[in-house]
Amino acid sequence: MSFIGISASFRGGRVVTRRACNPVYSLRGSLLRQARTFSEEQKTYDGDLRPIKGRFDLSGKNIIVTGGARGIGYSAVRAIAEMGGNVCVWDVASKPVADFASLADEFNVKTEYIQTDVTNPEGLNGAFNQTMTHFDRLDGCVTAAGVVIEGPFVDCEYKPVAKLLDVNVLGTFLTAQLAARQMQKQGGGGSIVLIASVSATTKTPGHQLSPYNASKAAVRMLGQAISIELGPDQIRVNCVSPGYTDTELLTPFKEQQPQRVDLMNKAPPLERIGNRNDLTPAIVYLLSEASSYTTGTDIQVSGGLHVGRVDVE
Ligand SMILES: NC(=O)c1ccc[n+]([C@@H]2O[C@H](COP(=O)([O-])OP(=O)(O)OC[C@H]3O[C@@H](n4cnc5c(N)ncnc54)[C@H](O)[C@@H]3O)[C@@H](O)[C@H]2O)c1
Repeated sequence: MSFIGISASFRGGRVVTRRACNPVYSLRGSLLRQARTFSEEQKTYDGDLRPIKGRFDLSGKNIIVTGGARGIGYSAVRAIAEMGGNVCVWDVASKPVADFASLADEFNVKTEYIQTDVTNPEGLNGAFNQTMTHFDRLDGCVTAAGVVIEGPFVDCEYKPVAKLLDVNVLGTFLTAQLAARQMQKQGGGGSIVLIASVSATTKTPGHQLSPYNASKAAVRMLGQAISIELGPDQIRVNCVSPGYTDTELLTPFKEQQPQRVDLMNKAPPLERIGNRNDLTPAIVYLLSEASSYTTGTDIQVSGGLHVGRVDVE
């Protein structure tokens, strides 16, 4: 089976691709890493069992990350690069965190930054076309661009709610749609990871976030619905749902009510606020071949908050 510059074969019930013409692959580190991965994968034990380490590898995969300028999105960017993947960031911010500049050299991968607003369909199309001038194909997409507003339901005003839904729901929808179309055009295969939230399934203690709750429930259901539509194309769609995660998104909450820091550290059953390192393994797993039979799921990385809370006085 082959498509432009790529040969593929079915092994163990999944498609294994090898890229012949991608200039990124001429990089020595990537080649060595890939060669090692394939030789390890060829071994089998007790019938069909294969070594697990190489299955998390993202060498040579091309992945878009929205909201990757900072926070959880940037943690995904760095993790993808560390695992050998090439990353294109789409974010409304004028520039990413300073650390981004060194990733390409540090991990021998390709990185690109495109300033775009996920609520602007023309801008998104432009970002997509620009991305595909850097990438010869698309293997993955992580949608982390998101915003939050807080306040009592009855006091919420139209404009801020509409803006939030635009970013969190429509922005996610349109980005995933662009990725899925490209993956279908390539002949199928790929992984889309939607960053939802524990707020998609439960009201978090100490916050009034009804528009955000609604938006993240929409993201979660979007993931489930399109995982079924895209499954026959071997395009997997899953969510990662963070609980309280220590990023700049939480800064206003902490500043307005410092006692909330205490709550965030006490309410989750694991009795601490989450951090970005808690999330990246789930994101890498879902992007990689390690999750080859996982679609339509939502991985909760919430310290247990999604099932309940420790009683806090
Ligand atoms: N931090 C948490 O506790 C937490 C918990 C659950 C879910 N989440 C979700 O994780 C995702 C990332 O959150 P974070 O904590 O890293 O927040 P963050 O504010 O640190 O980062 C969000 C990023 O999205 C970008 N962005 C915002 N609007 C955009 C737009 N219109 N177009 C393009 N980019 C845009 C921002 O510029 C920023 O780089 C969000 O979807 C958020 O809802 C966060």
